Amino acid sequence: MSQKDVGNKVPIYKLKTTNEVMKYYDEWGAENKYDKDMIAWNYTGPKETANVFKKYAQNKNIKIFDAGCGTGLVGIELKKFGYNNFDGADLSQKLLNLIPAGLYKKIMKADLNKTIAVNNDTYDAVMCVGTFTFAHVKPNALEEFIRITKNGGLICFTINEGIYEEYGFDKKIKELSDKKNWEMKEFFKSDYIASKDVNAWLGIAQVIK
Ligand SMILES: C[S@@+](CC[C@H](N)C(=O)[O-])C[C@H]1O[C@@H](n2cnc3c(N)ncnc32)[C@H](O)[C@@H]1O
Repeated sequence: MSQKDVGNKVPIYKLKTTNEVMKYYDEWGAENKYDKDMIAWNYTGPKETANVFKKYAQNKNIKIFDAGCGTGLVGIELKKFGYNNFDGADLSQKLLNLIPAGLYKKIMKADLNKTIAVNNDTYDAVMCVGTFTFAHVKPNALEEFIRITKNGGLICFTINEGIYEEYGFDKKIKELSDKKNWEMKEFFKSDYIASKDVNAWLGIAQVIK
């Protein structure tokens, strides 16, 4: 299985624990290095995902949860398309501190491998970009995303190609489709960080309750 991914100091695929991941991003945020690197590497994940999302989410006032929002790059893309009602959650407080003021309605520090502190059926959509990768957030989070999303809502996500089968995302996605917990609308290999030869699966599914 491919272990390609990019990082600032150590290869990201060497990270093992949630604490290591948190420290890794806390340090990457120093002097805004994360955002600078994403520009330098032409990281297209947020733009590509928002582009797909807007085809299915025509109402710009819907309430969106950005899972693993980091410094808010997905929020910036959502805003460009006119969405104005989104919250964000991330493990790294240092990255959350870098989100432009007023961009997100609510920001919370959270470990998305645990139960999310959000009531059932709260959001119209969940976006999760760049967060399904090595040692980050595991496939069970998709069940949590469905739980907090309303019937008919959307879940739009990327999965790093290097972990798609290794972490069981392929099986979880099939299981959710087989159980009719959601209906997959699009699923394809996106560019993501093509400049570093790292691609990701990009999916958008509609929740069925
Ligand atoms: C590659 S960054 C993507 C950030 C943002 N969505 C973007 O596209 O720029 C991955 C993010 O996942 C977050 N993350 C990793 N593990 C997490 C966890 N268990 N719970 C919540 N966030 C996590 C990291 O802190 C980091 O902000």
